[in-house]
Amino acid sequence: MAEALKKIQKIGVYTSGGDSPGMNAAIRAVVRSSVYYGLTVSGIYRGYEGMIENDIIDEMDVRSVNQILQKGGTILESARCEEFRTPEGRLKAYKNLKARKIDALVAIGGNGTFTGAELLSKEHGIPIIGIPGTIDNDLNGTDYTVGFDTATNTAISAVDNIRNTAMSHNRLFFVEVMGRNSGFIAANTGLASGAVDILIPEREGSIDAIVEKLEKGRLRKKTSSIVVVAEGCKLGSTADIAQQVCKKMNYFDAKVTILGHIQRGGNPTSFDRILASRLGVAAVEGLIAGKKNVMAGLIKNEVVYTSFEDAIIEKDYVDEEVLRVANILSI
Ligand code: F6P
Repeated sequence: MAEALKKIQKIGVYTSGGDSPGMNAAIRAVVRSSVYYGLTVSGIYRGYEGMIENDIIDEMDVRSVNQILQKGGTILESARCEEFRTPEGRLKAYKNLKARKIDALVAIGGNGTFTGAELLSKEHGIPIIGIPGTIDNDLNGTDYTVGFDTATNTAISAVDNIRNTAMSHNRLFFVEVMGRNSGFIAANTGLASGAVDILIPEREGSIDAIVEKLEKGRLRKKTSSIVVVAEGCKLGSTADIAQQVCKKMNYFDAKVTILGHIQRGGNPTSFDRILASRLGVAAVEGLIAGKKNVMAGLIKNEVVYTSFEDAIIEKDYVDEEVLRVANILSI
């Protein structure tokens, strides 16, 4: 480690893509562990946009990350940057990093962030380690991404509130959660909030199957019914699904609630704070040890480094056991 320490002297840290709760905890961990190991840290604003525009805090000291561990959002802000998709954009970004003597990067984000990181590193040779920061939990190489647990808890507490009114009026609610092409938020929210059905992109499903489940519940005298729908569900938009179901079950007064960006905000849970802190330290220690172009993740509670190439292949599975248990308990 001592020899590698000489090589890297200044790390740049940035958050990019959709923000997620726990990104601040990850920034704090990167800054503090870098200083702990005798390195300098720069904070790059708005991900690749700030890199291109040279919007960079040259040195973040340990106190610059005071009181952010518990806060949602990202103090470095985030963006999705079109210009960085071009080689010219990436060259501009690299020149700014070089001028500031930034010789390694920690990228906090999801698929898009790591796709950009891999290109930057391949073209200009700068070592980069990623921290999975996305509510979607769709990256390979980690059991959980930073923000997923908080987003799921936010969705669950929203469904709990909806449940009160659903019970008072004996209503059917279709609640749409985020997750892009992935059904992890939907599956966990559905199980933890007692949904009668969970619709996710990874499973085909059909309107008839939803109707069948609802009808069984009605015959068993369910007083409220919640269907959790992942935004990427292939059966159509949540409003369309609700409409089609109601055509077949006209005794239901169905409502649609789209939870949207409230799932991206809020103070991170203990799980996300701990995950972000561990992976922040793992990213810096990985760079010091000479690792590059990998994402630090946690698998079975152990730190694992996975190449960007493998990490960005979207998980094409969901937790079957979660779905099986939810199905048994939804009768
Ligand atoms: O990737 C995180 C996420 O919140 C997805 O769940 C969602 O599909 C998307 O970002 C929304 O993106 P935007 O904030 O750009 O609308």
